[in-house]
Amino acid sequence: MASMNLREQALRLMRLVATASCRCPAHSQNFSPVPRLSSAAKDHVEPECAFEVANSSIRYGEGVTREVGMDFENRRLEKVCVITDQKLVTLPPVKEAIESLETNKIKYELFDKVRIEPTDSSFKAAIDFAKQGNFDSFLAIGGGSVIDTAKAANLYLCHPENDFLDFVNAPVGKGMPIDKPLKPLIAIPTTAGTGSETTGVAIFDYEPMNAKTGIANRAIRPTLGIVDPLHTLHMSERLTANSGYDVLCHAIESYTAIPYQKRGPRPLNPNMRPAYQGSNPVSDVWSKHALGIVAKYLKRSIKDASDLEARSNMHLASVYAGVGFGNAGVHLCHGMSYPISGLVKSYKAKDYGVDHPLVPHGLSVIMTSPAVFRFTAPSCPERHLEAAQILGADISNAKLADAGLLLSDTLRDFMYSTGVDNGLAALGYNSEDIPALVKGTLPQHRVTKLAPAGAPGEEDLARLFEDSMTLY
Ligand SMILES: [Fe+2]
Repeated sequence: MASMNLREQALRLMRLVATASCRCPAHSQNFSPVPRLSSAAKDHVEPECAFEVANSSIRYGEGVTREVGMDFENRRLEKVCVITDQKLVTLPPVKEAIESLETNKIKYELFDKVRIEPTDSSFKAAIDFAKQGNFDSFLAIGGGSVIDTAKAANLYLCHPENDFLDFVNAPVGKGMPIDKPLKPLIAIPTTAGTGSETTGVAIFDYEPMNAKTGIANRAIRPTLGIVDPLHTLHMSERLTANSGYDVLCHAIESYTAIPYQKRGPRPLNPNMRPAYQGSNPVSDVWSKHALGIVAKYLKRSIKDASDLEARSNMHLASVYAGVGFGNAGVHLCHGMSYPISGLVKSYKAKDYGVDHPLVPHGLSVIMTSPAVFRFTAPSCPERHLEAAQILGADISNAKLADAGLLLSDTLRDFMYSTGVDNGLAALGYNSEDIPALVKGTLPQHRVTKLAPAGAPGEEDLARLFEDSMTLY
């Protein structure tokens, strides 16, 4: 009788873990509908042995923006909600897209009030706009903030009876499944960074709790990503650098993420297998290839705004890395980045033209990367050594025990040579902020648990933040 109880308890725990793994606060996914389980299925618990690859529709090429009007016409869509930000609205990417809508006689209305690093309020402003326009489709033209805002507007337009927190990841929101189809959303990324055109994630700051969280579900992924490398020529130097470092972290974090077989138990239904399922042979291909492109072109793309070859390749790298991390996940650099950007005091990123304090996403992720990869290397030193080699380090005499230090030093050289600020101290943080930074990271355990040895504890996180105060 006692052993039956223990078995029942173990099964209940396994079910809880499997269900919880569907609700990632940052870079994971919910799945819908939540399946009903037969009693036979409930008794079926075994280690994970499978991974699943999801992919996005992407069109890539110089000048493809002018095709977008035809895409709406081909789908018999009549009224588009165009979403962008106030800086981009005056620039060619938006003008070309609108010209294409007009040429193809597609009606549209323009919302240009997206906030860089969106908040729940800025999401809600876009949602209210979308609800008033009788739209049958969406077009997002911009970086991750714009595309994420469009995903949220589409979601809540199609679920008018739901409260905002219903679909927000637990524990901030309820993480409810999405059970109605959304409207077509076409995304035209103007930065080479987030890969948001390939993912089902929308990240924002939840102001009442001063916490970064998100909505994560395959249902909100754009129908089509139109990747036009000519748009990257409009990126400022710092925007290019920060976006490029986001790509770099997507690539290394997904390549070094915990292997999919070790992430957790096999789910009770394939619908419950998270998209961010740990590194796997397919995501490895995308992530490693993306890192190779970053190694070759990131510095050039920052240095010379007119280097179309370098900027085009970085645009492609963001897509490659997006597919890689979209199927494997990211871990500590991203998990720790959310409080770094969320608790910003007065730092205002150069070149962004914002009127509020801002640590851009890519900058917040790269800051901790030297400390993070030194910390994670002992769990999979071969992969860390390989990443260092791809980034240009000479590993001919390196031992596996050197992998963390070598990758860390390579990253610091890379960052120094591209003008990255000297650590968290340069962003306005000091040692007294570490408890708050750690506290802000702990709820991101759905991401941090994808680190190769699982989620670190508070002491390890505190040391990683301390080690990231100054870099050079
Ligand atoms: Fe990212």
